[in-house]
Amino acid sequence: RIMDNFVVDFFKADGTPLMKDYRGKRTTKEKVSWMSLEMLEAEGHDISAYLEKQLRYELIKELDEGDDFYGLGDKSGFLNKKHYEYENWNSDLPQAHNEDFHALYKSVPFLMCLKKNGECYGVFYDNTFRSFINLGKENEEYFFYAAEEGNLDFYFMVGENPVEVVGSYTYLTGTTPLPQLFTLGYQQSRWGYESADDINFIVDNYRAANIPLDIIHLDIDYMDNFKVFTWGEEKYGKPGELFDRIKGLGVKPVCIIDPGTKKEDGYHIDDEGVEKGYFVTDKDGEVYVNAVWPGDSHFPDFGRKEVRDWWANNHKVLIDMGVGGIWNDMNEPASFHGELPSDVVFYDEDRKTNHAEMHNVYGHLMSKATYTGLKEQTGKRPFVITRACYAGSQKYTTVWTGDNQSLWHHLQMVVPQLCNLGISGFTFCGTDIGGFGADTTPELLCRWIQAAMFSPLFRNHAAKGTKDQEPWRFNKEVVDINRKYIELRYKFLPYIYDLFYKGETTGLPVMRPLVLHYPNDPEVRNLNSEFLVGENILVAPVLEQGATKRMVYLPEGTWYDYWTGEKVEGKQYILKDAPIDVCPMYVKAGSIIPTYEVVQYVGEKPYNKLELLVTPGAGEYTHFQDNGEDYAYQNGEYNLYRFTTKGAGEITKEMIHEAYPVYEEITSVVLGK
Ligand code: GLC
Repeated sequence: RIMDNFVVDFFKADGTPLMKDYRGKRTTKEKVSWMSLEMLEAEGHDISAYLEKQLRYELIKELDEGDDFYGLGDKSGFLNKKHYEYENWNSDLPQAHNEDFHALYKSVPFLMCLKKNGECYGVFYDNTFRSFINLGKENEEYFFYAAEEGNLDFYFMVGENPVEVVGSYTYLTGTTPLPQLFTLGYQQSRWGYESADDINFIVDNYRAANIPLDIIHLDIDYMDNFKVFTWGEEKYGKPGELFDRIKGLGVKPVCIIDPGTKKEDGYHIDDEGVEKGYFVTDKDGEVYVNAVWPGDSHFPDFGRKEVRDWWANNHKVLIDMGVGGIWNDMNEPASFHGELPSDVVFYDEDRKTNHAEMHNVYGHLMSKATYTGLKEQTGKRPFVITRACYAGSQKYTTVWTGDNQSLWHHLQMVVPQLCNLGISGFTFCGTDIGGFGADTTPELLCRWIQAAMFSPLFRNHAAKGTKDQEPWRFNKEVVDINRKYIELRYKFLPYIYDLFYKGETTGLPVMRPLVLHYPNDPEVRNLNSEFLVGENILVAPVLEQGATKRMVYLPEGTWYDYWTGEKVEGKQYILKDAPIDVCPMYVKAGSIIPTYEVVQYVGEKPYNKLELLVTPGAGEYTHFQDNGEDYAYQNGEYNLYRFTTKGAGEITKEMIHEAYPVYEEITSVVLGK
């Protein structure tokens, strides 16, 4: 309902109110009452956050008692965003991410509101300029979205439940495409693997410890002086040799590529970029310079197609060597000599604009370029990982949550952070397992691998100078626990892959907060420490140092303890024994879950046997099978199996689609029997 004075209210067709304009004015709160700004600045604090923001517009909406908020992409803190404020400005901040952080590396201005009465809607504020979202922190009567610049351009989505709202949002901005199967395997990374010897040592130790490993990441160390699209032969050997060796052991290499291109005469990438005018310039037309890892660097203008094509083609040297994927980093863009000024000249295709408008989509456009290069040159489903991005980047790239630390509260943040990314369209997401900064502990690493066992991106990564973090560096107990959960991941690979396959149509994520499927259960609106994998598995990882028991909330229905097979009725809290080797997991009644034999890497053996893990109760399940690599499935080369059970353990199989070699054997096992 649009009123004469531009007040806009949203209702359902039956008149139920959803989102209404706030009739009053913002009560701008006293920012600093206990100290003057001068005193704060004198003490060395950054006062920029306190300064009055120059806003072009603000959209102030009524906040109803009982409104809860989810989504917003990649923000720190808790699942429910109510009572917090956020900023959409891709930021690389070195401090430990806490719940008071307003911004991290990504800007995804999508908000889902779940009202007390169960009504649900989503809003996507499509503006790439710096913007702010305040969800009742300033005043409990309203919430607002405000932007410094840009058009007021927002989409309102209504659904009968959160699943429908996520479906609408991903219908609009795109769903995550089906990845290659091996990219769902276990991955090891570290900043500071200095040489080919280091990489070989890591791979060999994984194989010796019998811990599955599919991917190893090469951080900036592999390049010649951090120059992108070069290879540091001195330490990393002849191009191609290292890759051939590790690929022979089943491990696929992924290389990091940052946008900052070293400013250096005679460096072919920089020379070409300068000559053809591919880099952003200052307002006077001089190529803009700021520092990143290689020192003074230039920044490609990814908003232009010709620059994206150039960047895409530059990947050929790595593709020819056999790279398995590309990891894009520092693409907020990060810059060591202060932020790029707002007036640095960028293009949005043919339109001249500036940094203020393109900052939040810089990572998006970089990953789009990378995705295009990999797709065109390999014909496989591209594996791109990015740190910075915007709404919709899920079409091109996987994301990780950047530089977390080996801290227990960062382990606790894994669940809400990945669940909100999932609600915001980013199914393929993960955290640095074990923590990036600071030193992990044996216990923290064990609990992290358990919490991350179902996180779509499954990568252990650590910062240079921190304690070695590969599981086999620790004592036997740690090695055994890591192996146990990494093996479990490989067992459940077909289930995770099915969720990706289905998510390509529905937009639903792999890791889901309980509120997505149980919106009318008040117990789950603020449940930060449990998640669902699809609809059938509930995981309640131990996230507290020293804990050996944990309280688990099971929503309505009947559940089966994964470890004991014990039947537990839902809608209650239970206390579960969870010694260091146990991550509490429950499987819903009537589940049929596909599992594979554990391998050391995807492709070690053909997956020609399927085992169904079944729980008592009636149920139905659709399973997808294809070559796990390319686009043949889009031309019909796949199988779809429908399994049905009436509950007594007997399962029937029906082929819904058959155009790929079928399994030689399908067996089933009842959980706990
Ligand atoms: C950034 C990345 C981190 C990487 C490091 C060195 O801090 O977030 O993952 O290891 O740069 O490239």
